[in-house]
Amino acid sequence: MTLARSTAGHRRRTGLRAEVAAHPDPWRSVDAQPEAARLLESLEARGRTPSQIRLRRRFLRFVPIRAGQRVLEVGCGSGVVMRDLATLVGPRGAIVGVDPSQAALDVARALARHHPLRRRMRWRLAGGAALPFPANRFDAALAITVLLHVADPETVVREMVRVTRPGGRVGVQDQDFGTLAVTHPDRTLTDRIMWGVASHMYDEPFSGRRLPGLLRAVGLDDVRLSTEVFQDTTLEPFTKTFLERRADNAVRFGLVDPPTAQTWLDGFTELVSAGGFVLTFNYYGAVGVKPAAARARR
Ligand SMILES: C[S@@+](CC[C@H](N)C(=O)[O-])C[C@H]1O[C@@H](n2cnc3c(N)ncnc32)[C@H](O)[C@@H]1O
Repeated sequence: MTLARSTAGHRRRTGLRAEVAAHPDPWRSVDAQPEAARLLESLEARGRTPSQIRLRRRFLRFVPIRAGQRVLEVGCGSGVVMRDLATLVGPRGAIVGVDPSQAALDVARALARHHPLRRRMRWRLAGGAALPFPANRFDAALAITVLLHVADPETVVREMVRVTRPGGRVGVQDQDFGTLAVTHPDRTLTDRIMWGVASHMYDEPFSGRRLPGLLRAVGLDDVRLSTEVFQDTTLEPFTKTFLERRADNAVRFGLVDPPTAQTWLDGFTELVSAGGFVLTFNYYGAVGVKPAAARARR
């Protein structure tokens, strides 16, 4: 499989470069992105990767999500996690997904159409910093690979706590780009691109490891951490897109010139052919329980 810098090329062809929203992280404003549809497709590609299926399901068991519960997912995107959640809560449970992207909600609704528990799912257009629900409404509130992308994670988590019933659980899971390991013949260039892009793109590239502290800071009890590793040795479609986007962004942020970015991608292609490709990074999942006393605070 050959890797190619595709995103910048697409933007050039469509003349949409000027429309890219001001913050470098496209997940902050999906609907403002010229490539919103491709971003949302990438969530589905990620969701289908065997390693992701495993780590997502292990996290939902770790929370744990049980039959009959009413669960909120903040930043539901295309609905990968919601569809798993619906299966877990079953016909007596309910899942509500919120997302500030209308495009994401449209895709999530369409992809849920044939799910046997479609009628147990609902969607609302909203950001996590102002959830449109009364206090104590849900048995659990989750945000999966969302806090990395928001301006103020603590405000979002406080809102998740507010809408969760006392004794209910708040669960958050995020990547941590300080843990990314990948094989490549040129390690210096790889560090320049990988770390350079992550530190330009995210306010807190170490979001994952900070999650337990964040849950304790907002007053949750019994905070636990579960660390999962995403692993790919074959260059799955999701990983291929991820590396192409990293190369593209490295050019966009002025870290490398376009020929260097393409040479870097070619290095992976050779490794995959030789059977030497490995990419891993950690996903940290933290869960806490809302104390009964929290009822009096809001
Ligand atoms: C990387 S996607 C994760 C989607 C989904 N949770 C999953 O794991 O497949 C991040 C999502 O967070 C949403 N998002 C961005 N800013 C947000 C905010 N302030 N509050 C809630 N969601 C937000 C984006 O629109 C996007 O759908």
